[in-house]
Amino acid sequence: MKLAVVTGAAQGLGLCTSALLARRGFHLLLLDRQDAGTALAQLRAEGAAAEALCGDIASEPFAAEVAAWVDAHGGAAEVLVNNAGISLIRPAEETTGAEWRRVLEVNLLGPFLLSKALGLQMLARRRGSIVNVASVAGLAAVSHRAAYNASKHGLIGLTRTLAAEWGARGVRVNAVCPGWIKTEMDVEDQGSGAYSDADIIDRVPMARFARPEDVAEAIAFLADSERSAFVNGVSLPVDGGWVADASWESLRLKTRG
Ligand SMILES: NC(=O)c1ccc[n+]([C@@H]2O[C@H](COP(=O)([O-])OP(=O)(O)OC[C@H]3O[C@@H](n4cnc5c(N)ncnc54)[C@H](O)[C@@H]3O)[C@@H](O)[C@H]2O)c1
Repeated sequence: MKLAVVTGAAQGLGLCTSALLARRGFHLLLLDRQDAGTALAQLRAEGAAAEALCGDIASEPFAAEVAAWVDAHGGAAEVLVNNAGISLIRPAEETTGAEWRRVLEVNLLGPFLLSKALGLQMLARRRGSIVNVASVAGLAAVSHRAAYNASKHGLIGLTRTLAAEWGARGVRVNAVCPGWIKTEMDVEDQGSGAYSDADIIDRVPMARFARPEDVAEAIAFLADSERSAFVNGVSLPVDGGWVADASWESLRLKTRG
């Protein structure tokens, strides 16, 4: 069984990525803190082999439970996608210690715990691919997101470190850095009045949001041991050119046909 473990797979990018990996022949293990029953039903209706475990990725006992499940179902995952994450839009001076801690726990401690628990099994088999879902906010600052930015910059640091430590033992570790995607997270963030569709579309050289499928394709590429066999330690922007473009706004808008 070729197993892919995807966190935050009950909705959004995690569900879209799971569906794509299933179409590429992976057996899926979905992890989420919310019930993944609807996602499981959708995937199975599309012909996927999929199971789910419910828990908090920031919990060490949950990481151990996942590792035990994987051990009992073939010994090691081929792929781990650390996708689950939470957003926090708050001026730095208003961010509490508790908010900061929770964002760092979910977005950075969680990927570390699961990479360690499932990485040990991959290392024993000397093969595996870990893909971390960071963000353009891991490559550049977006105001009012101190904790989120720090967590995603940290995730890129973790990606590089694990790539350096584990590459020679057959385990590749990479990251994707999406721009804004139309998912439930975006709906919730826009609901707070933080930004509008136009703010994002005007800032992106390709003049649109990312589709979940755009990002899922990049994840599937990095997950694939043949197609990305010698790619290790990269943080791949999937952002329509956002971080590449330092143009001021009026100049960027002049480029629109
Ligand atoms: N939506 C965007 O614009 C965007 C842009 C860049 C990066 N990202 C990143 O992409 C990833 C997926 O985002 P999305 O837009 O699909 O978000 P989403 O909120 O739609 O889905 C996130 C999923 O993760 C789960 N989750 C959250 N905390 C968890 C925890 N502690 N344990 C287990 N599961 C947990 C949620 O229940 C949910 O199912 C995140 O890491 C996010 O930071 C999103």
